[in-house]
Amino acid sequence: MNAILQEILATGVTVLPDGERVPIHSGVGPGSGSVLLAAVEAAKPKLGCEVGLAFGLSTLYILDAMQAHGGGRLIGVDPAQHDATWRGGGLHNVQRAGFADYYEFLEETSQLALPKLAGCGTRIQFGFIDGWHTFDHALVDFFFLDMMMDVGGVVVLDDVGYPGLQRLAHFIVSNRDYKLLALDRRPIPSGWRVTAKSGAQRLLRPLVRDNHSPTMETLKLQQPINTAQLIALQKRGDDRRRFDHFVPF
Ligand SMILES: C[S@@+](CC[C@H](N)C(=O)[O-])C[C@H]1O[C@@H](n2cnc3c(N)ncnc32)[C@H](O)[C@@H]1O
Repeated sequence: MNAILQEILATGVTVLPDGERVPIHSGVGPGSGSVLLAAVEAAKPKLGCEVGLAFGLSTLYILDAMQAHGGGRLIGVDPAQHDATWRGGGLHNVQRAGFADYYEFLEETSQLALPKLAGCGTRIQFGFIDGWHTFDHALVDFFFLDMMMDVGGVVVLDDVGYPGLQRLAHFIVSNRDYKLLALDRRPIPSGWRVTAKSGAQRLLRPLVRDNHSPTMETLKLQQPINTAQLIALQKRGDDRRRFDHFVPF
C-alpha cells in the first residue's frame, strides 16, 4: 500500500500544503477501501472519474489500486478543494503520494463538469460518486458517469446509508443493467427489525408482480443495499430501454 495512505490510516491525521497537521474528519474507511480496490481490480480502468476529493482518502485508494492493475489515469472533480475545510489537502496528498502524473483535477461542480467530459466523447471504465449527497445531484453524477462508462466498467457509490444514495442504488439495480459486484456493510443496531420487514416484503411482492415490477433478482438486492455503507456496481450492458421504461424502486 502507498506509504502516504498508510501514514494517514495509522495516524488519522493529514498534512496540509502549509505544513499544518489536521485530523481526517471525512473519507472512506479501510473496509470501503478494500471494495474500491476490488472494483479497480475488476474494471482495470484506463481512465476513471471520481466525484468528491476532500482530503483525498478515496483518491489515494483508487490511484494506489490503479497502479497495481495497469496504471490508468484518474480525473477528480470537486468545487471546494481550496475552501476553509479542505484547504488543498486532497491535492497535496495526491502529490506527496507520487500520483500527480496520473491525476487530473477539475475544480468545479460535478453537475457542470461531467456533461462537458461526456460531451467530449470521454470514455471511462471506473467511476466513484462521493460528492453532494442529495438524490438529484447523485443521480446526475450517475447519469453522466454511466454515459461515459464502458460495459464491464464499475461505478462505486459511497454513503449508501444516506436516503438519497440508497434510493439511487435501488434505481440503478431496478432500471439499469448493472450487477452488484461488492459492498462494504455498515453496522445496523436494530438489524432484526429490518430483516423482518424486508422478509415480509419479499413474501408479498411476488403476489402483485406485473411487467413493471422489480424482478426477483432486484428484490434480492434490497436488503444488501439497505445495510451497505458503500457499493460497487458493474455495468453489464448499454442502456437499451424503451423511451417510457420505468420500474418502481
Ligand atoms: C464526503 S467528501 C468526499 C470524501 C472523499 N471521497 C474521501 O473518501 O476522502 C464530499 C466531497 O464532495 C465535494 N462536493 C460537494 N458538492 C460537490 C459537487 N456538486 N460536485 C463535486 N463535488 C462536490 C465536497 O467539496 C467534498 O470534498
